[in-house]
Amino acid sequence: MQSHIKPNSSVLELGCGNSQLCEELYKDGITDITCIDLSSVAVERMKERLLSKGYEEIKVLEADMLDLPFSNERFDVVIEKGTMDVLFVDSGDPWNPQPATISKVMAMLEGVHKVLKPNGIFISITFGQPHFRKPFFHNAKFTWSIEWSTFGDGFHYFFYILRKGRRCLDDEDSIEKIQIPSISLYHEELEGEDYIFRTNIEELNS
Ligand SMILES: C[S@@+](CC[C@H](N)C(=O)[O-])C[C@H]1O[C@@H](n2cnc3c(N)ncnc32)[C@H](O)[C@@H]1O
Repeated sequence: MQSHIKPNSSVLELGCGNSQLCEELYKDGITDITCIDLSSVAVERMKERLLSKGYEEIKVLEADMLDLPFSNERFDVVIEKGTMDVLFVDSGDPWNPQPATISKVMAMLEGVHKVLKPNGIFISITFGQPHFRKPFFHNAKFTWSIEWSTFGDGFHYFFYILRKGRRCLDDEDSIEKIQIPSISLYHEELEGEDYIFRTNIEELNS
């Protein structure tokens, strides 16, 4: 991830929950970070945690990723980890998701594309496999190129990088696998985030 995000990048994290991701980015020298979450409880907890650690520069807002409250071309990087997956809960057949799921995913992606600067990147870290994500990422509305890699043992996670303005129109079906060694995270690192088990907003609010 460090190779894709420069210290002067403006970064938006979607559905931060109580993830450590923004802190880790901050420790890497990235200071212009905005985190959003739909849950007011998650936002308050995150604000408290960041303040207690002295990371008051990181902005945390209650906002809906399906209706992003930011101006066009505001961010160099938009990142989500396990948040897009929430939209696929109860989506029915993964090969043929329900219309409601399709509209939500498209609303999210259109918003992300809009707030990205030209040449900006959208990083998506997810359990969603390329054959399920590709129909959305490849929609004709978007100008981004698409690359991906996998990581994890047993469970495979996918790391997608979509770069705005780099779409190759000659090859509409292309989705390029990044040729880097597969990354293996220690189980504790994955467990520490445990995001896949927290897909229900109501749970956070209770
Ligand atoms: C599965 S958790 C992932 C949390 C975090 N990204 C992580 O890696 O631990 C999904 C998060 O997305 C948030 N969320 C769900 N729908 C959202 C939406 N429409 N807009 C913003 N956040 C949303 C939830 O409140 C929850 O905190």
